[in-house]
Amino acid sequence: MDAKSWRCPSGHCFDIASKGYVNLLTTAGKNPKNAGDNAAMVKARTDFLDKGYYAPLADRIADMISARASVFAVDSGCGEGFYTARIAEKCPDCFFAGVDISKTAIAHCMTRVHQKKLSNTAFAVGSSYKLPFPDSSADELFCIFAPVANDEYARVLKKDGRLIVVSPTADHLFELKAAVYDEPYKNRPNKYGLDSFVLEDEYSLEYKEEITSQDDIYALFSMTPYFYRTSETGMARLKALDKCDVTIGFLIQSYRNNKI
Ligand SMILES: C[S@@+](CC[C@H](N)C(=O)[O-])C[C@H]1O[C@@H](n2cnc3c(N)ncnc32)[C@H](O)[C@@H]1O
Repeated sequence: MDAKSWRCPSGHCFDIASKGYVNLLTTAGKNPKNAGDNAAMVKARTDFLDKGYYAPLADRIADMISARASVFAVDSGCGEGFYTARIAEKCPDCFFAGVDISKTAIAHCMTRVHQKKLSNTAFAVGSSYKLPFPDSSADELFCIFAPVANDEYARVLKKDGRLIVVSPTADHLFELKAAVYDEPYKNRPNKYGLDSFVLEDEYSLEYKEEITSQDDIYALFSMTPYFYRTSETGMARLKALDKCDVTIGFLIQSYRNNKI
């Protein structure tokens, strides 16, 4: 690595963007411009997360990580950086690397960490299935509502490294779905095929939030996958909602690497 670029062992060179991140998805045919969350999704996520509704999740993960001193942690599928930045701020002795396939999201991560003047983070546009870290280099790897990559996580995590995967609980956002759909359903558990890991611990962080702003309700709904498969009637119901008492629920699962 020099001041303006990163070089990989095979001789590839990746320029550091003016905002300070590196784009590793420059290979022809990958179309990095449109990969992952688009600008509207990134904005919705930022508008909602900045209100602090999901801050208890970031704080819980920060507590888990800060219990071990000076770790190197990866945020895989870090999105627009709310969690990476908040956790890095609470764990100043640790170093955090965020990777996301969306260039817009990673550019926003840089804005966040500049605003907070954080010096313990780095970000790259890249894939969770091809992380830019050496074998057995990470102490912690967390993945919040993003694609889970068994083989790559097993490669990058140290033997005693920990994987933290966050997914929605059955009741997460149920009241919001009930307001929009005739037949709302509860979330089913995700199946990740984490064959290289052993589940050590799981914890449901669940609480109620009264969301009283129409803009916040709309931003929340538009950062979920439901937004893109909701009928016109459902969207009309959503837009008419100016208040929603909603369950927020995160299933936090901790896994140990099975490496010998
Ligand atoms: C639901 S968002 C979650 C973002 C963030 N973890 C959060 O909770 O705010 C999923 C993220 O995964 C990213 N993503 C999708 N496929 C990916 C891949 N193959 N590698 C890395 N990131 C990916 C998207 O761009 C998006 O930012």
